[in-house]
Amino acid sequence: MSRAWDGRTYDRVGTPQAEWGRAVLERLELAGDETVLDAGCGSGRVTEMLLERLPRGRVIAVDGSASMLDAARERLAGRPVEFVEADLLALDLGGRTVDAVLSTATFHWITDHARLFARLHAALRPGGRLVAQCGGRGNLDRVLARTAGVAADPAYAPHLVGFVDPHRFADAPETEELLRGAGFAAARAWLQEAPVHPPEPPVFLSSVILTAWLEHLPEDLRGPFVDAVLAGLPEPFEADYVRLNLDAVA
Ligand SMILES: C[S@@+](CC[C@H](N)C(=O)[O-])C[C@H]1O[C@@H](n2cnc3c(N)ncnc32)[C@H](O)[C@@H]1O
Repeated sequence: MSRAWDGRTYDRVGTPQAEWGRAVLERLELAGDETVLDAGCGSGRVTEMLLERLPRGRVIAVDGSASMLDAARERLAGRPVEFVEADLLALDLGGRTVDAVLSTATFHWITDHARLFARLHAALRPGGRLVAQCGGRGNLDRVLARTAGVAADPAYAPHLVGFVDPHRFADAPETEELLRGAGFAAARAWLQEAPVHPPEPPVFLSSVILTAWLEHLPEDLRGPFVDAVLAGLPEPFEADYVRLNLDAVA
């Protein structure tokens, strides 16, 4: 699990993720009194939108990053949210179940989707819904190909020996199969192209897309690495995102 998140910066620049989150949330039917698990809540921007839909309900907000949870606690102070710092692969609600799971921009950070879906299925009551979106097959192909080229440069390569891109950008059919294997019924997954032109490309790259690479580099090489990635991409910078949507019933 990548730990190199800076919750405050992500909160400021994570606008595309927040906008996708709003659209994902529209897919989740709610009466308003449910308990919903936000799996990978980050700095809480999407959690806040979820709370608007839960006037009599509550949220369990789970994330593995202390920095992200600090930012979420600040944003959501006084709201009906229980914050849990945990790896989703080891999620354990102590026998409690939730009515729904929402997750945005998170599953591609986790490679073991079979185990992830099994943990989420165990957290849901029978009939509870999983509605999620993450990076899918083809996500950021152009940006990551350029990143691999820069990572091979002798200036950076010695620091990245043994580094493996932590992302799993899964395809729709394999995801449906894994969801069914974890016990979900009516599992549906589909891809969607979602290119983005962030207003602050260097900040967006360093705080959202390249966090896993940068945590392996010494401080003084991080800026040059980001600049080198940007320099090899067409202008204006486009993040060639492809999203994988997931809808399933426990
Ligand atoms: C890009 S952020 C998305 C945050 C928020 N859902 C949004 O849409 O803005 C991804 C989040 O997933 C969390 N994450 C990644 N892998 C995780 C894991 N195995 N367990 C818990 N959280 C994880 C990260 O700490 C990060 O906060």
